[in-house]
Amino acid sequence: MLRRQIFTVVFMFCILFQGTEGQCSSKLTCSECVQHAGCAWCKQRGFLSPGQPDRRRCDTAEGLRRRNCSAIIDPTPDVQSIVDTELGSSLENVVQLRPQKLHLKLRVGVPQTFKVAFKRAEGYPIDLYFLMDFSLSMIDDLENMKKLGHKVMSALRNVTNAARIGFGAYVDKREIPFITSSSDSLSNPCPENKTCQPAFSFKHFLNLTDNMEDFEKEVSKQNISVNEDLPESGFDGVMQVSVCEEEIGWGNVTRILVYLSDGLFHSAGDGRLAGIVRPNDGKCHLNKDGLYETSESYDYPSIAHLSEVLAKKNIKIIFAITDDYQDTYQELSAVIPQSVVGILESDSSNVVQLISDAYNDLVSKLILEHHKAPAGLDISYSSECSDGTQSYGQKRGECRNLDFDQQINFTVTVSTSVCFSHARSFTIRPQGLTEELSVTVETLCDCDCRDTERRSSYCHGNGTYACGACSCDEGYVGQTCECEKQQNADSILSMEALCTPFNSTNTCSGHGSCLCGRCICHSHYRGQYCQCDDTSCNHHKNLICGGNGRCNCGTCECYPNYEGPACECSTITDECQTGNDSICSNHGYCECNQCICHPDFKGKHCTMSLYPCLQYGACVRCRLSNVLEKENCEEACSSTELIHSPDARIFSCDDEMVFFNVESNSETVQIFYREKHSIFQRAMFGTLVIFCSGVGGVVILGTTMILTYLVLLNIYYQIVP
Ligand SMILES: *[C@@H]1O[C@H](CO)[C@@H](O)[C@H](O)[C@H]1NC(C)=O
Ligand SMILES: *[C@@H]1O[C@H](CO)[C@@H](O)[C@H](O)[C@H]1NC(C)=O
Ligand SMILES: *[C@@H]1O[C@H](CO)[C@@H](O)[C@H](O)[C@H]1NC(C)=O
Ligand SMILES: *[C@@H]1O[C@H](CO)[C@@H](O)[C@H](O)[C@H]1NC(C)=O
Ligand SMILES: *[C@@H]1O[C@H](CO)[C@@H](O)[C@H](O)[C@H]1NC(C)=O
Ligand SMILES: *[C@@H]1O[C@H](CO)[C@@H](O)[C@H](O)[C@H]1NC(C)=O
Ligand SMILES: *[C@@H]1O[C@H](CO)[C@@H](O)[C@H](O)[C@H]1NC(C)=O
Ligand SMILES: *[C@@H]1O[C@H](CO)[C@@H](O)[C@H](O)[C@H]1NC(C)=O
Ligand SMILES: *[C@@H]1O[C@H](CO)[C@@H](O)[C@H](O)[C@H]1NC(C)=O
Ligand SMILES: *[C@@H]1O[C@H](CO)[C@@H](O)[C@H](O)[C@H]1NC(C)=O
Repeated sequence: MLRRQIFTVVFMFCILFQGTEGQCSSKLTCSECVQHAGCAWCKQRGFLSPGQPDRRRCDTAEGLRRRNCSAIIDPTPDVQSIVDTELGSSLENVVQLRPQKLHLKLRVGVPQTFKVAFKRAEGYPIDLYFLMDFSLSMIDDLENMKKLGHKVMSALRNVTNAARIGFGAYVDKREIPFITSSSDSLSNPCPENKTCQPAFSFKHFLNLTDNMEDFEKEVSKQNISVNEDLPESGFDGVMQVSVCEEEIGWGNVTRILVYLSDGLFHSAGDGRLAGIVRPNDGKCHLNKDGLYETSESYDYPSIAHLSEVLAKKNIKIIFAITDDYQDTYQELSAVIPQSVVGILESDSSNVVQLISDAYNDLVSKLILEHHKAPAGLDISYSSECSDGTQSYGQKRGECRNLDFDQQINFTVTVSTSVCFSHARSFTIRPQGLTEELSVTVETLCDCDCRDTERRSSYCHGNGTYACGACSCDEGYVGQTCECEKQQNADSILSMEALCTPFNSTNTCSGHGSCLCGRCICHSHYRGQYCQCDDTSCNHHKNLICGGNGRCNCGTCECYPNYEGPACECSTITDECQTGNDSICSNHGYCECNQCICHPDFKGKHCTMSLYPCLQYGACVRCRLSNVLEKENCEEACSSTELIHSPDARIFSCDDEMVFFNVESNSETVQIFYREKHSIFQRAMFGTLVIFCSGVGGVVILGTTMILTYLVLLNIYYQIVP
């Protein structure tokens, strides 16, 4: 298992490594080269051997070092922190996001990461704006609000030291069918004897203020109004409150808009009912009294438009609505970032609790997003939240269940797939906050070698030198523009192709350099592609081609009368000749003027049979059995000379005793033979001699002993009578 894993890792590494190198070596200029992740350029003059194309200058930095390049261009991506104020929550100096300004130097395809820390400061100032529905049904809510002001303020004071509060209201556009004609004309359009004010689309009553009395005073002054249809112009109000930053007095603090309503809302397109077709322009149109005067000139804003403006202005919105339209507002809230829905009692008595809950809900979630990122930039986030959750490679950073004074950390990864002509910038900002991190991005796509030279002498006066390489003028080509362009050699690549054998990648077979489309071969190499090596032929007896031929591109060309891979064979066969028309006695063939015998024969001329019985036994037998009729044995005894000789050595064939032996010279085979019986007689005689000499010996010895005994006996009887 482990072995397999190691193998896989090594394998992957090989693929990656090879991949990078392969991709590097297709880049022709320094800029192209460094625009590829992992590639570096060698600007050392004379780094390449003559004829090598400039793309060989592009390689991995490691590869270039290995190839002894002394001047490598390998721009290093970098993250520079420009402003990096520490996080702080003291009231005078609240810093919730760190760092504040970064400069990135990016290489195409090489991601860079940096850390972003966020800590929500407790007591961060809040601006809260009440946007109230003044339609008739809200009459009791307004009465309640008049009493609630100080409670709202004290609830805010519970979460912050610096709270401000503002106030505005909406009814509807002063056009039929949104209002009746009477409510437009009358100063008190209300039925019966209720006190009303004429309808308006949106009216800003109170600048953001920390003075509670002002708030209560302003709210108390207000009378309800009346409109005709059910939906109201709340969106006009939200738009104006958001875009009229100065008029409302929004600070760079937590901005909260409380949208109070017990009805639905008009949105883009509804204006057509009253003939209003001009789309909402998203600009501030409040007059000096705070009235949205030109509301009848523009249609209601769309939800998407509102959502965008709210995000841009960092305004969190709390929809405080009655139960009836909860579902609609939940759907609305889903598409508006930094928004929540709270359910209002029919008389708005719970508005304080609602705001307090909604605020906590909003601040317990943090979303980190980028804005205005240039195309081609890929930005992703990894989040490390205080509740222990982590996420990686997200489109935005997000943490929930946030508490005050707890640092959360994001890792932002930025990579680019394109080159920018000038530095670009974008911002990263927590939703609903004005603090931001501004990032400038520079791409490292060019080689700044500072050695550019027109008509450089290095480029033979026909090109511009830069970063170690020449870019040749029209009509010239080559590493140093040394070649004039020709039809089939109009680029360094095509010239190289001319130097490269058909199915090889090895320029000049690795044994030469390519100059203007022609191979200049090293030492003893020859040929169009230096593919020939005249020392690589077969050797024989330590001599190239046996000394009997010429080596041509790896093959021996033999002199006359020689052949063989190393010309080691003479074609002359005089040594094999065994007759006027026979070679090797017809029992072999001639190779290198030497007989190579058939398996059954041996000898210089293959005259010796390994099995003479088979070969000549018949002949000898024939000869012996037909002593008189010699002629009949011609067939069996062809090309042999039979010689009768009593001295013939004995050679016996298995089944029959035949006495002969064979001798051969270069010309003929001589068979010496003799008859069986003469041999037998000889044997008999021999035996007899041995026998007789044996018996004779014994008889003589016995006789001698008897005679000796008798003589001795006579002598004894003569001495002893
Ligand atoms: C690089 O330089 C070293 C030492 O000078 C030498 O041994 C080596 O062969 C060189 N490598 C190449 C690729 O030229
Ligand atoms: C403010 O906080 C105190 C204690 O933390 C609490 O008793 C009080 O009810 C809070 N006031 C409001 C309006 O929420
Ligand atoms: C309103 O007018 C009606 C008669 O139209 C009257 O009965 C009622 O008392 C009036 N209410 C107020 C508060 O004046
Ligand atoms: C509200 O009504 C009262 C009494 O009718 C009137 O005095 C006051 O001016 C009205 N306020 C507004 C803002 O119209
Ligand atoms: C509200 O602010 C605007 C713009 O700053 C200013 O012109 C206006 O006088 C202010 N209104 C009040 C009542 O202070
Ligand atoms: C809020 O910040 C913006 C940009 O950061 C700045 O232009 C503006 O003057 C600030 N407004 C206030 C009231 O500080
Ligand atoms: C964020 O980083 C800081 C400092 O590195 C560390 O003290 C803190 O615990 C981290 N926060 C989280 C939620 O991991
Ligand atoms: C360009 O190259 C040609 C041929 O190598 C040479 O004759 C000519 O002088 C060169 N041009 C310049 C401006 O040196
Ligand atoms: C080219 O391809 C042929 C057939 O595939 C092969 O026999 C020959 O050796 C190859 N030549 C080289 C230089 O690789
Ligand atoms: C070989 O040929 C020569 C001349 O042609 C002749 O004199 C000789 O007898 C021949 N030898 C044999 C064995 O046939």
